[in-house]
Formats: sequence, structure tokens, C-alpha cells
Amino acid sequence: MNRLLPLLIGAIGVLLLATLMLVILPAWQLRTSEPPEQLQPYTAQQLLGRDEYVANGCLYCHSQQPRSTGQTLFDTARGWGRASTPGDYFYDSPHLLGTMRTGPDLFNVGARMKSRDWHLTHLYQPRAIFDWSLMPSYPYMFELKDQVSEGDVVVRLPESLQPAGKHVVARKEALDLVEYLLALDRTYATSAQELDKRDRGYDRRPAEASTDSGAK
Ligand code: HEC
Repeated sequence: MNRLLPLLIGAIGVLLLATLMLVILPAWQLRTSEPPEQLQPYTAQQLLGRDEYVANGCLYCHSQQPRSTGQTLFDTARGWGRASTPGDYFYDSPHLLGTMRTGPDLFNVGARMKSRDWHLTHLYQPRAIFDWSLMPSYPYMFELKDQVSEGDVVVRLPESLQPAGKHVVARKEALDLVEYLLALDRTYATSAQELDKRDRGYDRRPAEASTDSGAK
């Protein structure tokens, strides 16, 4: 085993290079990241909702990273909003970029779907809204009650899904999660500085402005 030493040095070298390129350099490039003025920090309830988002695996099917028109024209056309920039994630730790898009990108879902009732119905049973939906239902975030008491948020359902003689009431988990979803809105205009940070080293389409088209 007289080659052990070169092997070890080689392995450590590769590891150090990877750490430098993938961890240290990106952190250094983004060291000056500031939160955009219009971006609000999450409230305590929204943070609890964010935990629900992670715990329930929403991340496995939903991304939070609309792409630029230089990468694809689809994201803006779908109304998912302008491409995200580093500052948009200032309050996200860890970020929830996601890699799968079985469902739509949710980075700006709060801007395009503002109804708490809609989200509650959809979480209780996505098929109540789209019969073709393959999103799982989350019935354990709701309880069935004979009597509605004060402060209860009752889920609106089509007759066919309404349990006989019972009311479907949202539990705290569902309410927190929806608060988080409603807070997802980065449709404000971003700065040229942020765009440069995002696109460093890549071509930007001339037509792409700081506002892009925004989520509809
Ligand atoms: C197995 C994949 C899958 C998982 C897991 C999943 N979704 Fe979905 N989601 C979808 C699909 C597919 C759609 C599109 C059809 C629909 O609206 O039901 C969707 C749609 C949505 C929409 C509507 C977005 C829009 O622009 O129309 C919201 C909001 C949403 N999901 C939230 C969630 C949340 C919150 C969770 C976690 C509790 C979650 N999803 C988990 C697949 C998934």
C-alpha cells in the first residue's frame, strides 16, 4: 500500500475543492444579500405553517423557484411570477426551493390565490375542486364536529363530500399552513443589483425587466 499517501492527498484535495466551489464561494458571492424592502419577515403563525409545509412533504411536489425567461418561457406564461433572486429568500431558512414540479410552483401562490376558504377546501380534499387532481388530501388537519363552536373555521365543501350530519372544521395545523401559503408573494419589482447577482455569468434576455410579468 505504498500508494496510500497520494490517494489520501488526492481525496482530500477533491473534497476541499468541492467545499470551496460549492459552499464557500457561493456564500461569499451572496454575503451582501439584503432583504428587499417589500419583503416582510414571516410571522410566528406563518413560521408554524412553514413547518407544516416541510413536515407534510409539500416540498416533494412543489418547487419555490420560478425560472427566468432565459431558462424557460413557461414559468412566466403560467403566471408563476418573475424569476426569483437571492434576496427573495432572505427570511427562508432552510430555503424550500424543491426539485419536483408534480404540482405548480408555489413561490407566489399567495399573490394569485388569496382565498383562505379555497386553500382549506383544497387541503381537505383537492378533488373537491379538480376531479383530476393527484395531490393527496390531508384529512388529519381537520376534525369532524357535530356542533360548531365559536371561532371554528368551517370548511366549505360540495354537497357530495359533506359528511352527513357533521361539520368539517380546520385544525390549527391547517390554519397555520394556509397563513404561510397566503404569505408567499414575491411579485414586487426586484432591483438591478439583485438581477445581476442572480444572473452572474449567464445571458439575460434583453426583454427581461426587473418586474418580469409578475404572478397573475
Ligand atoms: C403528490 C404530489 C403533491 C403533494 C405532496 C402536494 N401537492 Fe399540492 N398540488 C399537486 C398537484 C398535482 C396540484 C395541481 C392540481 C390541484 O390544484 O389540486 C397541486 C396544487 C396545489 C395548490 C394550488 C396551486 C395553483 O397554483 O393552482 C396549492 C396551494 C398546493 N398544491 C399546496 C400544497 C400543500 C400546502 C401541500 C402539502 C400539505 C401540497 N400541495 C402537497 C401535487 C401535490
